Amino acid sequence: MKRIPGLTIDPDGPVPVYRQIADGVRNAACDGRLAPGHRLPPTRDLAHQLGVSRQTVVAAYDHLATEGWVHGRTGKGTFLVTSPEPTPPGREAEGGWLPAFARAVEAPKVGGLLSVYRTAIASEGISFAGSYPAPELLPVDAFARAIDRALAEDGRRLLVYGPTAGQLELRETIANRMRLAGSRVGTDDVLVTNGAQQAIELVFHTFLERGDTVVIEEPTYTGALSVLASIGARIVSVPVDERGLRTDLLAIALERHRPRLLYVQPTSHNPTTAVMDERSRRELLALAARNRCLVVEDDWASGLQFEGEPPPTLHALDPERVIHLSTFSKKLLPGLRIGWAVAPPVVIERLVALKQIRDCGTSPLLQGALQRFLEDGGLDAHLKNALPSYRARRDAMLAALERHFPVEASWRKPAGGLFVWVALPVGLGGEPLFQAARERGVVYSRGELFHSSGGGGHTLRLTYSTASPEMIERGVAILGELIRERRPERPEHRERPVESMPIL
Ligand SMILES: Cc1ncc(COP(=O)(O)O)c(C=O)c1O
Repeated sequence: MKRIPGLTIDPDGPVPVYRQIADGVRNAACDGRLAPGHRLPPTRDLAHQLGVSRQTVVAAYDHLATEGWVHGRTGKGTFLVTSPEPTPPGREAEGGWLPAFARAVEAPKVGGLLSVYRTAIASEGISFAGSYPAPELLPVDAFARAIDRALAEDGRRLLVYGPTAGQLELRETIANRMRLAGSRVGTDDVLVTNGAQQAIELVFHTFLERGDTVVIEEPTYTGALSVLASIGARIVSVPVDERGLRTDLLAIALERHRPRLLYVQPTSHNPTTAVMDERSRRELLALAARNRCLVVEDDWASGLQFEGEPPPTLHALDPERVIHLSTFSKKLLPGLRIGWAVAPPVVIERLVALKQIRDCGTSPLLQGALQRFLEDGGLDAHLKNALPSYRARRDAMLAALERHFPVEASWRKPAGGLFVWVALPVGLGGEPLFQAARERGVVYSRGELFHSSGGGGHTLRLTYSTASPEMIERGVAILGELIRERRPERPEHRERPVESMPIL
């Protein structure tokens, strides 16, 4: 039976036993007696060894998970995290301040989103980082006209505080657009937010306390992981394969962990680009209903599909159980910082109260301008112009990957969105590849940033939307060269697997 070296407990001591176990594991991890990634003994075994109840060990592991020391994988056990966030340079200088900071800003992974963002905006070379629309395609002039019109027609109303839930006309327009996509949505069900990021933040804070269990996809959007880390939620991750969230494993996760909430991206999943089919969406909803689990659907990429219509949203299939989030950032203008949440009015009321104390509302002027821009058909015109370019860039990236990446690398053709997800053989990638690429002037998003566990080092997210086809060719050639240099063996006659992506 596996043991934790040096772990002893004092059942009569002043410290609760579950804390003693958690402290023992943490100490063993800190002084190297347990290696990063080590699988902890099953709760039943450890309980037996220590002569305590299994619940006590479960509480200890939960405590370690909320502190960010361990993560659980459904059906596979509990593991020490492989790479706690490294201390950024200069951190030592923060000396005396460090003990003063709240967990909400200090927990490992809180800074993940900032790290993606910094890489994306700092690049001067070839950037495949971030997931932004192409600057040269932004409809700047048309939006300037919409702002002028908003000011001329309604300046006095739009330059004072507005309703916290959002301008009524914009909420109506969003509800209308969603009704056209098959959802049952009234104006009162819509909250305008500062991007989908704020919608995620408000929803998570409305339903989760520190230590509450959440089921997420592995990998998933870094911004959601950062919010969960700042809350101190207990994360249970369920793998995503080429057909999206593994509903067979979701069934186990929901039954075993009884989470309060499931966060999922069924269409153009960030980062894997997977799309769930209608059958698995219905399966997911049935499982959530059976386990009384709330579903948060992040539909960030709606409108950005090149090939075929995606299946109905989870919200269209079950408006009672699903809170739906989306954004104008990717399909239009991230600088507006306008997204939305759709939920029953009783939920919206709570979200509005929280939003009021966060920011007193999203800019009425920008909402007024956006409303006019949408009314004039500006979004549809923009997408008509932008989608063919994104599609061409996607195709350029796929062709470049085919030419320059070794046969062991795998990826899928995304049906929409802004990036391609690539898996290298395990052991390649990670920080060494990222640094080497950076030195050659190419940046991308490292796969680890999308994993709650610190795994995924062999994966890369390559954004094609913001680079020209020539830059894509050059950047992918450089990456391919660096990967080939690091590859241990070079098989000569292997076929590239078609449309394959490993189960992560
Ligand atoms: C899956 C997902 N959700 C939400 C967001 C947040 O978008 P924004 O706050 O810009 O609307 C992003 C941005 O990258 C995303 O990829």
